[in-house]
Amino acid sequence: MLTDDTRQELIEVARNAQQWAYAPYSNYAVGAALLSNSGRIYEGANVENAVYPVTMCAERVAVFKAVSEGEREFSAIAVVTRDGGSPCGSCRQVLAEFGLDTIVVIADEEGQVCQETTVAGLLPHSFGPSNLKETP
Ligand code: THU
Repeated sequence: MLTDDTRQELIEVARNAQQWAYAPYSNYAVGAALLSNSGRIYEGANVENAVYPVTMCAERVAVFKAVSEGEREFSAIAVVTRDGGSPCGSCRQVLAEFGLDTIVVIADEEGQVCQETTVAGLLPHSFGPSNLKETP
């Protein structure tokens, strides 16, 4: 469960991160704010490339920043776009690797919450780490 203050803070951090999006091709700026269980917030913005498929989404930037600094558990992520767009399939899968219970707050750039769910809600019937355990 997210407190109102935490939800608000994550949305504000994601709104701020959105300004750093490098999105000259789509002009679709995305900001993300990922809260680790250690209490730190990692920001992300989408980074596009002239070779379009190399583009990296804001959510995965935030996850990779956090994981590459030793984080493994996350309680929530806020994602901000102009229209309250939902995280893509690849980002859902990357988030699922680190927990299906992570809360996902989807907001628009005015800070209006469009949807609040979990990774499991966005990616039901997922394939994950438990599938690769020898004795499930
Ligand atoms: N994008 C994200 O950053 N996150 C998503 O979950 C959906 C899409 C970015 C990728 C690209 O830079 C732009 O939005 C348009 O697809």
